[in-house]
Amino acid sequence: MNTRELGRREKALAWIARDAGQLARRFFLKREKLSVSLKGTQDYLTEADGAVERFIVGRLARDFPHDAVLGEEGGRKGAGDAIWVIDPIDGTENFAHGIGHFCISIGFMLGRRLQLAAICAPMYGELYLARRGRGATLNGRRMKVAATRRLGRSVIELGWSARLAARPYTALVERVLASGATFRRAGSGALGLAYVADGRTEGYCELHINAWDVAAGILLIEEAGGWCNDFFAGDGLARGGAVIAAAPGIRSALLAATGMAKGNMTVRSRNRRRGK
Ligand code: IPD
Repeated sequence: MNTRELGRREKALAWIARDAGQLARRFFLKREKLSVSLKGTQDYLTEADGAVERFIVGRLARDFPHDAVLGEEGGRKGAGDAIWVIDPIDGTENFAHGIGHFCISIGFMLGRRLQLAAICAPMYGELYLARRGRGATLNGRRMKVAATRRLGRSVIELGWSARLAARPYTALVERVLASGATFRRAGSGALGLAYVADGRTEGYCELHINAWDVAAGILLIEEAGGWCNDFFAGDGLARGGAVIAAAPGIRSALLAATGMAKGNMTVRSRNRRRGK
């Protein structure tokens, strides 16, 4: 894809993420009228998830009819190398409980390489954007990961979902606490990664997470000078996998402390065990 075509997508993405954010915000403000269901244990689905995804996919289909999309709710549509990876509402559990810590996350990939990213957190008025090789911004301000060099002074977000049993998660929490770092779990993987990109936290780890939760956040971190494992190297796009991201100064210490070094990130999700 040439620079001009990528530039068209970059511009459109910022508008689509902003508009989708406004739509999600309107749903959130009248959430007591929305239907909320569970896709599985602690796996929430609100009316807003489907509506926001349909809005995003509709705009992309109008502007870029030959691009493929992979959405959390609607799955994959279209073939080819150019693909938009969409989480219409990341942090659905928060959304359903009246907590404004949620976002819209959209990444654009060519093959296995992320090219563009947008995360919109409408209740905070935040729009995070990145383009490969051109940096990452928050509301137009250039982002940079934390300069911290000591894991013992770091805040690491440890994501968890009911796709995994509790034990591997609690073991991870114990390992991180033993390293002297502290941890948080705020319920949105995409925002957790965006916070690493903005230097608010030093790292993010989750033993299994889906592609739509991380596509945008990974590029934000890389473009803000941080490090992330090669999530899309294997079948991450289709099946998800482990994610670990860090500010460069604590990267090796975090890998050692978590045990999530190369070859040791094989925790399987319950979905995978069920062959989903
Ligand atoms: C979830 C959130 C959560 C993460 C889970 C995701 P959803 O996405 O990002 O923080 O730990 O792995 O599934 O369901 O809110 O879109």
